[in-house]
Amino acid sequence: MVLNTIFLVREIRRNEQHDSFINAVTHELKTPITSIRLYLQTLERREVAEAQRREFYQLMLLDTDRLLGTVEQVLKAGEAGQKKALRQRLPVEFNGLVRECVDLARTRHHLQPESLEYQEHFTNGEAACVMGDPEDLRSAVSNLLDNAVKYSPDGVRISVELESPQEERIVLRVRDRGVGIPQQELKRIFKRFYRGVTQRSVSQVKGTGLGLFIVRAIARNHGGRVFAESEGTGKGTTVTLELPRRVA
Ligand SMILES: Nc1ncnc2c1ncn2[C@@H]1O[C@H](COP(=O)(O)OP(=O)(O)O)[C@@H](O)[C@H]1O
Ligand SMILES: [Mg+2]
Repeated sequence: MVLNTIFLVREIRRNEQHDSFINAVTHELKTPITSIRLYLQTLERREVAEAQRREFYQLMLLDTDRLLGTVEQVLKAGEAGQKKALRQRLPVEFNGLVRECVDLARTRHHLQPESLEYQEHFTNGEAACVMGDPEDLRSAVSNLLDNAVKYSPDGVRISVELESPQEERIVLRVRDRGVGIPQQELKRIFKRFYRGVTQRSVSQVKGTGLGLFIVRAIARNHGGRVFAESEGTGKGTTVTLELPRRVA
């Protein structure tokens, strides 16, 4: 009886998560499509000045980027659920890759360099190489950076640190001063579809709850791990990604 109830509650919670996932994805797909449609209609129906037309194109491009992003997340999460082997295993220069992701995040979120700081600490000054799939690794790092920005509603102050405390290990730390994560959620946030309680109640921050699930799958596929730390709500978050370093 007790077991049954536990099972039932768990099942209901899972269904709720599925529902809110579907709602979130529908919203993420519908909003940019509606917006693109509106711009196209305007362009079709009225004479639009050249400058404004250019602006419309820019906005439509942003909307298509957003659509692509959502579709890619969903596809990646599907792949991650299947526990497939890595598509490719190449030597990847991880510090270069992280720097690219940082630059991309700065552009995409219109950040000043000091809002998103990047530091490397390598004793021997060598490149930090990882064996793996560069596209997956980029996606993992970008997901962490996007979260750090997204969950910093009162101003972005992120520091990204890359170090190699031992020869055979690379550690990436993404630290933000944002909303933080309550103790009891620190593990759960890596589950598929899971979105934080604050996110659901306030529900201003958009998302699908797939990001960290994807990051964890990628970390594991590369023989690494990922975990989150936070002093609690309002105290910021640090997410750490550890990967095995390729010894030359
Ligand atoms: N940097 C962060 N600061 C605070 N909360 C975070 C951070 N990153 C992730 N979270 C919490 O973990 C949840 C899951 O994250 P994620 O899988 O990326 O999904 P999404 O961002 O789409 O909600 C988020 O809903 C949020 O509650
Ligand atoms: Mg996310």
